[in-house]
This record gives sequence, C-alpha cells and structure tokens, in this order.
Amino acid sequence: MILPGDRSESIAAAVDCIRGGGLLGLPTETVYGLAANADDDQAVAQIFLAKGRPADHPLIVHVADASAVAHYAAAMPEFAKLLIQAFWPGPLTLILRRHAGVANAATGGNPTIGLRCPSHPVAHALLKALMKDSVWGLAAPSANQFGRVSPTTAAHVQGEFGDDLLILDGGSCSVGIESTIIDCTRGAPVLLRPGAITPEQLQAECGLRVLSKDELDASSAPAPKASGTLDSHYAPRARVRLMIAGDLQRAVDVLGAEKQGLASNEGLRVAIYSRFWLEPSTIPVLYRRMPDDATATAQQLFAVLRELDAQGVNEIWIETPPADPAWAGVRDRLQRAAG
Ligand code: TXA
Ligand code: MG
Repeated sequence: MILPGDRSESIAAAVDCIRGGGLLGLPTETVYGLAANADDDQAVAQIFLAKGRPADHPLIVHVADASAVAHYAAAMPEFAKLLIQAFWPGPLTLILRRHAGVANAATGGNPTIGLRCPSHPVAHALLKALMKDSVWGLAAPSANQFGRVSPTTAAHVQGEFGDDLLILDGGSCSVGIESTIIDCTRGAPVLLRPGAITPEQLQAECGLRVLSKDELDASSAPAPKASGTLDSHYAPRARVRLMIAGDLQRAVDVLGAEKQGLASNEGLRVAIYSRFWLEPSTIPVLYRRMPDDATATAQQLFAVLRELDAQGVNEIWIETPPADPAWAGVRDRLQRAAG
C-alpha cells in the first residue's frame, strides 16, 4: 500500500508499522530503502529474507540527526565529526566502530556500523517521530531484490515487493544513486562506495586525503562483504554493454545494416542510452539520451535502466561516461550493471 509521505497520518501509520516489528518502504534522497527498526533483530531478519540478501552483508542504519550516533557508535575520529558537520543530513554513510549489543543483525555481526542521516523530508519526519518513541534508527538497504536495480520511486518499490508492503511515497529520489560510503575505522578516510559526494569534496572539509580501497594496507583486516561493492550488481534483466562513443557508433551502424537484412544476427532487440545524439530515424531501436552532466544522469539512471528493461530488449548499450571525478558514482553503477 502506498501512502502519501507528506501527511502526518502516514507518518503515524509508519511509526506503528516499525514499532510492531514490520517492514516499510522508505523514501530517501538517494534511493528508496526497505526499512526496519535497527535494534529489532527479528524485524531486520525479515529484510534479509524479503531481499534474498546474504545475512553477512551489513545494512546501513539511518538516524534522525547526529545526536543518535552515540547510541550506535563507540568511537568517532575527529575527521568523521567534520564530515558529519559538513554533509549531514545528506547522501554520506560513515562506517564507525559499534557498541557491542546494538544493531547486531543489521551489522551482520561486524564490529562496525554504517550510519547515515538522510535529508529527505519524509525520512527525516519519520526518524524524528520514531526517536520520540525511543527507536534510534532504521536499518534500510535499497528496496530491491538482491543484485537488482535500486528503486527511485514508490512504484518501483511496489513492483519489487508487492502491495502488502507499506510504502511512504516521497516522489522521485533527487540524488538517484546510493550514498557515498566512507570507512572511518582505519585512521584515515577510505572510500568504499562512490556516490554524489566526491572524495574531493570530502577532502576539502576534513583536510585528509581520502584513500581508495586499493590503497589500504594489504595487511589490514579485509572489509566485510558488501553488496553494493560486488562486481555484478544493479543489474537489469537485459545484458548491459558499456562502450565508448566510437565503438557504440560502429555497433549501431552494424545493427542498422542488420535491420535492413544486410547482415545476420537479426532478432536482437537493443536499447541505447548515450550522450551522443542518435538520429531517431536512422535505426529502429529504443533510444534515451544521457544528460550532459553527472548529477542529472545519476538522478534518472536507475529509472531509465528499469524503463528500458521493461521494454523486453535483449541488450542495453550504454555510452561510457566521462573519466571526470564528478561521474565516478555513475560510472561505478554502470560498470556493475555491465557485470
Ligand atoms: O543511499 C544509500 O545508502 C541507500 C539508502 C536506502 O539509504 N542504502 C543502501 O543500502 O544503499 P545497501 O544495503 O544497499 O548498501 C549497504 C552497503 C553495504 O553493501 C556495504 O557496502 C556498506 O553499506 N556497509 C554497511 N555497513 C557496513 C559496515 N559495517 N562495514 C562496511 N560496509 C558497510
Ligand atoms: Mg543495494
């Protein structure tokens, strides 16, 4: 059931659902989450079950504000405090050392916890209301079946989990790709997942260089399993192929010849998502133009993948985004979609 997220009755119904140990479709500025009380291990177990997600993949816990951090986190380095000041509420998740005994199931038993304070007004209103009822946080992975494309509208969530799930409608997500994840437990900030907030922006605020995963000392403890970091993830049913503009143009030319019966391999149905403009009349394929800037592309990316996939094409051909740092989040999701 989808309820309008901007009504106080909807927030009240969502509070009842969470306090009763239920699951909820939660709008955030990044993607929709499948949420449960982070301190209710049984409720959290239902998330793993519904998603088909392995129980050792830790979930992000969403909090109303920085005051809830102390409930979950045992220690916080100075640079993490600066990042919270600068970027919360917003699309930034911090991995911190966890107090023993809190959010056990949500963290998959890891000694650390991922915390994020979302800026979406509906998520914020719900988290505030829950905190008054002593619910400190919502564990919420993206509200999609394991390995599939993340949802950016309430209808996407309903498509994944059916009409029995209570979903708060918060409109289309404004960021569109999952939060940037920074590990704060290794002395220096380490980027675990790129997102809308870039390492350059983080460095400017905390004064420390953000390390990549590859730069981690090989002798340090391995990071826990993390779905968003698996090589094949965010995948539609259709095969995704990433190509630079020149290769994509050549593939399109070949396809055009095939459609006119000039080459074999007909029957292949293709959708194209590219920044370079494809004359719509030259070739009978589904075509969506990729915006010129990374922010606009991130915002629509998952909805476009779902929309093209729903047309029943065999392949989705996508132009490789620019190497510019601003595009890192989009590039990462596309590389994983191409698996
Ligand atoms: O934008 C987002 O972050 C969205 C919305 C709903 O907030 N959530 C999201 O959750 O993307 P999920 O479960 O799809 O991604 C959680 C990822 C894990 O796959 C892992 O990469 C990381 O967060 N993570 C969570 N807890 C961690 C921990 N204790 N240590 C290391 N990584 C952790
Ligand atoms: Mg996910």
